[in-house]
Amino acid sequence: MPTTIVLGAQWGDEGKAKVVDYLTERADVVVRYQGGANAGHTVKVGSDQFVFHLVPSGIMHPDKVCMVGNGVVLDPEAVLAEIDALAARGISCAGRLFISESAHVVMPYHQALDRAGEESVGATRIGTTGRGIGPCYRDKVERTHGIRVMDLLDAEELRQRLPVVVAAKNEILTKIYGQPGLDPQPIIDAYVGYGQRLAQYVADTSVLLSQAIEAGREVLFEGAQGTLLDVDHGTYPFVTSSNTTAGGACTGSGIGPTRIDAVVGVTKAYTTRVGNGPFPTELLGPEGDRLRELGHEYGATTGRPRRCGWFDALPVRRSARINGLTSLAITRLDVLDSLPRLQVCVGYRFGQQTLEEFPANPRVLAACTPVLEELPGWQQPTTGARRLSDLPAAARRYVERLSSLSRTPVSLVSVGPERAATIDVE
Ligand code: GDP
Ligand code: IMO
Ligand code: MG
Repeated sequence: MPTTIVLGAQWGDEGKAKVVDYLTERADVVVRYQGGANAGHTVKVGSDQFVFHLVPSGIMHPDKVCMVGNGVVLDPEAVLAEIDALAARGISCAGRLFISESAHVVMPYHQALDRAGEESVGATRIGTTGRGIGPCYRDKVERTHGIRVMDLLDAEELRQRLPVVVAAKNEILTKIYGQPGLDPQPIIDAYVGYGQRLAQYVADTSVLLSQAIEAGREVLFEGAQGTLLDVDHGTYPFVTSSNTTAGGACTGSGIGPTRIDAVVGVTKAYTTRVGNGPFPTELLGPEGDRLRELGHEYGATTGRPRRCGWFDALPVRRSARINGLTSLAITRLDVLDSLPRLQVCVGYRFGQQTLEEFPANPRVLAACTPVLEELPGWQQPTTGARRLSDLPAAARRYVERLSSLSRTPVSLVSVGPERAATIDVE
C-alpha cells in the first residue's frame, strides 16, 4: 500500500489520528490535505497524549516526513503553537515538516466573521468550531481577498494588501453584525512575524510529494473531519467548508488520482456528531449519556459534549461509495464492552418505504426513522486483544456485521486509544 488515504467515514472524530499514528510505523510521509485547526486529532503513546490541529499525526514518529498541503487553511498562530509544544516535548519539526506555499491563511477577521455569523442566526446555526474555517475558504473561492502562505513570506505584499482587506471585512463586521472592527496594523505586524518564523517550513509540497512517490516512499494522507461533513456529500448545510472525501486528497495535495492505492474509512463502532444537523440514530436521554461517559465523548478542539448514538450503516455505506473505500478501520470497540445489548441501524423507514441508502435531501432525512437490529453484547474487556481471534465471539460477530452492512472489508480494529491497542486484520 504505497499511498493510502485515511479518512473519516462518519461525522468526524472517528479516531483517524490513532489509525494514522499506528500506520505511520510503515509509512515514510504523512500529509494533511484539507480542513484546518477545526480538526482535533488525538494521539496517545504510552502515557503521552498530544492533540494535533494542523501538524500531521505522524510527527510523533521521529524521522518521518510530514506535509501540510495546499488544500489546508492554515492558522499560523495555531501551527506555531503546535510546533513549540512539540519542541517542548523533545519532538523537532525542523527539516521534516513542510507547509505548502499555496495553502490559504486563516486571519483574525475570518475567526471574527465565523463567530459573528453564527451568533447572528441563532438557533439555525451550524455549530462551527469558531476557527474561521468557512470564512477563509470563502475568501479562497471568492479570490479577491485570499491570503496565501507565500504572501505571509512577502512582508511588502502583506503591508500593501492587508489594510484594504481588513477595511472590507470591517464593513461586514461593523455594518452587518454590529461588531467592533479590527485594526490592521497589529495584524500586519503579527503576521509578518509569523511569516518569518514559518519560512523554514514552506515549500512546494506537491513537488516534494511527487518526488517521494517516484522514489517509492509510502505515503499516508490524513483526512480531517468526516465524509458526512463534506461540503458536497455531507449533510449540507451542517457540514464543514472543504472536501473531506477521497477526492480532496488529490486536489488538496497536488497529486493525481492514479497515485492512490488504498482508501481506509475510519468509523467508530457507534456514532457521534458535534455541532448541529441531522443524526438519525442519536440517543437522547440516559442511553446517550451513558455512551458519552463510557467513551469520554467530548470534543478534542472545543471540549463540547459529542452527541452519541448507535452505529448507523447508511452513512458508512454512503462513505464507502463516495470514497471508494478499500477497507474499514473500526475504532472504539472497547467502549461497548460493558453493554449487554447493542443496536445497529440497517435502514431508514420513510413513510411506507424502507431506504437502504442515506438520502441526500435533508427534508427526506428529517422524516426518516431508523430501522434497528439488536445484537448481543460481549460484556468482557477487549482492550488486550491483538488478533481477531482474541475477541469474544459476540464482538467478532459485531465487527463482521458492521463490515457486511457497510459492504466493506475490515483491515483494522482499534480496542483502546493507545498505539498498541490495535488489531491488524491483514
Ligand atoms: P480524530 O479527530 O478522528 O483523530 O479523533 P479524535 O482524536 O477527535 O477523537 C478520538 C478519541 O478517541 C481520542 O480521544 C482517541 O484517543 C480515542 N480513541 C481512538 N481510538 C480509540 C479506541 O479504539 N478506543 C478508545 N477507548 N478510544 C479511542
Ligand atoms: P476532526 O478532524 C468533528 C464540525 C463542527 C460543525 C461543522 C462545521 O477532529 O474529526 P467548521 O468549524 O468546520 O466550520 O464547523 O463541522 N467539525 C467537526 N466535527 N470533528 C472535526 O474534526 C470537526 N471539524 C469540524 O462541529 O458541526
Ligand atoms: Mg477530532
